Amino acid sequence: MTGETGEHSDTDGMRGKVVLITGGNTGIGKQTAIALARMGARVTITSRSPEKGQAALADIRRAADSEAVECMRLDLASLTSVRDFAGEFLATHPRLDVLINNAGLALGTRSETEDGFESTLGVNHLGHFALTGLLLDRLKHSAPSRIVVLSSDAHRGAVRGLDLDDLHARRRYSAATAYCRSKLANILFTLELSERLQGSGVTVNAVHPGMVKTEFAGEDDVRGVIGFLVKLSHLVSLTPEQGARNSVYAASSPELAGVSGKYFVRRRPVRPSRPAQDKQTALRLWELSEQATGVHM
Ligand SMILES: NC(=O)c1ccc[n+]([C@@H]2O[C@H](COP(=O)([O-])OP(=O)(O)OC[C@H]3O[C@@H](n4cnc5c(N)ncnc54)[C@H](OP(=O)(O)O)[C@@H]3O)[C@@H](O)[C@H]2O)c1
Repeated sequence: MTGETGEHSDTDGMRGKVVLITGGNTGIGKQTAIALARMGARVTITSRSPEKGQAALADIRRAADSEAVECMRLDLASLTSVRDFAGEFLATHPRLDVLINNAGLALGTRSETEDGFESTLGVNHLGHFALTGLLLDRLKHSAPSRIVVLSSDAHRGAVRGLDLDDLHARRRYSAATAYCRSKLANILFTLELSERLQGSGVTVNAVHPGMVKTEFAGEDDVRGVIGFLVKLSHLVSLTPEQGARNSVYAASSPELAGVSGKYFVRRRPVRPSRPAQDKQTALRLWELSEQATGVHM
């Protein structure tokens, strides 16, 4: 049985499952949390701001009619925060059934994370790379378990692929390219991780949520041409509830048991761009990500 937001009834097995959603305090992540909590999952969302997190928590609990939702602090722009978060999560959660790498941003000007990474790549890919690595053993012990990676069809905008010699865009920076490349990195990560997880019972799939009207690329983040295009896209955008459907599907659908390494658009596997299928780049990105984060999987 499939509901309004694409969720399946709790007979499909989400009752009692432990789900972690990065950046579930707003937008697509928040609606994903509501849908999965309604299905009986125990959901952890993360937030940078405790106030915003607590407000979201109250909304999610009310909307899902569930008390099995909590919020923990996580800033993906800081490896210290990622390590602290992972340590606390592992100490308090004996299992992890679904990890949804949802948080993401697009910026108008170049900035760097605490660890000196270009911020878009740092948050959208490297922070999640480190987090996934630190939680991977718990996912393996909880198998069959799933990882869902929020990518975007914007990855197709990175027509020349990644610039592995200038991953942090120190020589040349364009805000749009930085975002498209970070979303390409999400798919390459999914590709390489799925190979490494073969036989483990842990699957990993990437999803494109569609064009969704959220806080994404809001006033403070992106101005100029990209900001204008984002505002224009809001005229035809999906609601956050609709945008959550693909994440909920990838996290919970029994149809996807054992399915790994795919890219889903509107709940169908779709071939990503040619650079997103490049196994050599996926491996090189993996090595560079291990070096950058110090997290080895
Ligand atoms: N909206 C779209 O049309 C669209 C299209 C394709 C793909 N996507 C992808 O879908 C995902 C969710 O986007 P959305 O539209 O729901 O965006 P959103 O409303 O802006 O939400 C983004 C979430 O990411 C969190 N976040 C940002 N920087 C963070 C950091 N340094 N550490 C931890 N969390 C951080 C935000 O937390 P704060 O509240 O603290 O900022 C927020 O919870 C993103 O990965 C995005 O790339 C969105």
